[in-house]
Amino acid sequence: MVVVLELLPLLLLLPLALVVVIPIFHRRGRLPPSPIAIPIIGHFHLLGPLLHSSLRDLSLRWGPFFSLRLGYVPCVVVSSPELAREFLKTNELSFSSRIDSATIDRLTYGSSMAFAPVEAYWKFIRKLTMNELLGNSPVRGLASLRTRELCHFLRILADKAERGEAANISGELQQLTYAVIFQMVCGSAAAATSGMDRGRVEEARTVVREVTKIFGEFNLSDYVWFPKRLDLQGFRKRTEEIFRRFDTLIEAVLCEREELRRMRKGEEEEEGVKGTDFLDILLDHLEDQKDENVPFTRLHVKGLIIDLFTAGTDTTAATTEWILSELINNPRVLQKAREEIDQVVGKTRLVNESDGPNLPYMQAIIKEVLRLHPVSPVITRKCVKECKVGKYIIPVGTILFVNNWAISRDPKYWESPLAFRPERFLQDHKEGSKIGIDIKGQHYELLPFGSGRKMCPGMNLAQQMLPTVAAAIIQCFDLNIADSLGHGSILSMEEGSGLVIPRLHQLVCVPVARHSLFTTILEPES
Ligand code: HEM
Ligand SMILES: *[C@@H]1O[C@H](CO)[C@@H](O)[C@H](O)[C@H]1NC(C)=O
Ligand SMILES: *[C@@H]1O[C@H](CO)[C@@H](O)[C@H](O)[C@H]1NC(C)=O
Ligand SMILES: *[C@@H]1O[C@H](CO)[C@@H](O)[C@H](O)[C@H]1NC(C)=O
Repeated sequence: MVVVLELLPLLLLLPLALVVVIPIFHRRGRLPPSPIAIPIIGHFHLLGPLLHSSLRDLSLRWGPFFSLRLGYVPCVVVSSPELAREFLKTNELSFSSRIDSATIDRLTYGSSMAFAPVEAYWKFIRKLTMNELLGNSPVRGLASLRTRELCHFLRILADKAERGEAANISGELQQLTYAVIFQMVCGSAAAATSGMDRGRVEEARTVVREVTKIFGEFNLSDYVWFPKRLDLQGFRKRTEEIFRRFDTLIEAVLCEREELRRMRKGEEEEEGVKGTDFLDILLDHLEDQKDENVPFTRLHVKGLIIDLFTAGTDTTAATTEWILSELINNPRVLQKAREEIDQVVGKTRLVNESDGPNLPYMQAIIKEVLRLHPVSPVITRKCVKECKVGKYIIPVGTILFVNNWAISRDPKYWESPLAFRPERFLQDHKEGSKIGIDIKGQHYELLPFGSGRKMCPGMNLAQQMLPTVAAAIIQCFDLNIADSLGHGSILSMEEGSGLVIPRLHQLVCVPVARHSLFTTILEPES
């Protein structure tokens, strides 16, 4: 009797103990070690606004392979090239999907390429996009569109230079990339008649920035059981508002094009008029439905467009911002880059995309910027098939974070990792040389575009635009930073937060023309 009474508290505790202890034992031997978790929220409290930086700090204590629990969702965090290879290559098919959420689903019409797993639809749309828009040959085919927009951008700087005013470089770079991606994806039907509708591009920019912003936030209800229906963070309301604005915009674009196609069809019989841009190709597929196994609807068209807008614009603009910032802070590198441009291009014409391959130093600068400032610093995937890595078993549903930002700043793999030194990628650099290291997802110490099948399809385009835009700016202008941005002449390099990591402080400079500008820039727009 006495014994039973003494045991009573223990007996009462037993169910509780089982609930707490069993999952711990259960998890041990499955997932790698992890910090102590707090009930319900797990490790959310360890993550600051800069995910890549929080994860790096944790990896200094827990090593290159540890696990976290965000609410009830298990995560593994990887911070070494060997492990990145193990996950993104050896176990590629297990991690060929991304996180999803009600917000992402709604805003991509449930029809995204980026968030789709590697299955029939993804294969179809990825191939179509590469063949018709982002592969080498379609990208080259649209070079003149980009040249036109680059000249428009340079003309704005020239105007500021003439008046001695400061230019909002961050803002102008965004407008440049949105104008380019918008026209590459949706064509410029309006441009043929009335000049491109910049108002519409501007609307696209404001809406798409809201989309990327909300994608970058955690909807706690996706991770924690309790707030489910309450919408505590106001996510649902915001999502619906953004959805409505984007849908209105894109419907206008689609309807306009469909109208144009109907008119064209009438004329075609007589004259053989045919549209051939990307939007036309998408609409052709919509009409034909060639492959019965892969349904293709209007929602898929809209989902793809929002994908390309969100993935292609801010990434390119933010990277260009970082290139200019590093050049401003490293006058020696800037000087060398200009000498190369003067030697290869000369002083009588504007640099263009065909010059890219002849500017190895500029290419090395781009790599060095992508190393120090990968604008998607953490590659995030979701496990769709249980797999074994070392002695651990990774269950379906686990989120994988590959911290490429941490890897490319790790002194184990990079000599003086925080120094901006493009020479490390060039032949003439002797020690710690990284010749032959490229950014195409095969060298796991440098993964700015990710790796494997889900790797960035926009890499070609970025590799055309980044060196050309940067080279054109430094060919034409000196950029004098506005005082508030830096101490003396050193620009602050703090990072902003979000899905894409831009500068924390907008880049605002007074451009000063270096020589009389080229006629291609000064000619009024046709
Ligand atoms: C500097 C510029 C860019 C950077 C640093 C960048 C980086 C990335 C990264 C890291 C990923 C994830 C890769 C992975 O999971 O392995 C990605 C995916 C993607 N990017 Fe980019 N990107 C850039 C430009 C672009 C451009 C210009 C476009 C298109 C116009 C684009 C379209 C996409 C798409 C659609 C995906 C999802 C692909 C899929 O899941 O199948 N990106 N990008
Ligand atoms: C620069 O432009 C961006 C985007 O248009 C805007 O959000 C920002 O407020 C501008 N910054 C300055 C200093 O004008
Ligand atoms: C946030 O997540 C919860 C649970 O998944 C979902 O019910 C809610 O709709 C989400 N909010 C939005 C706007 O996505
Ligand atoms: C770049 O400029 C050169 C020399 O003017 C020209 O031959 C070439 O066609 C241009 N390339 C592009 C892509 O505009």
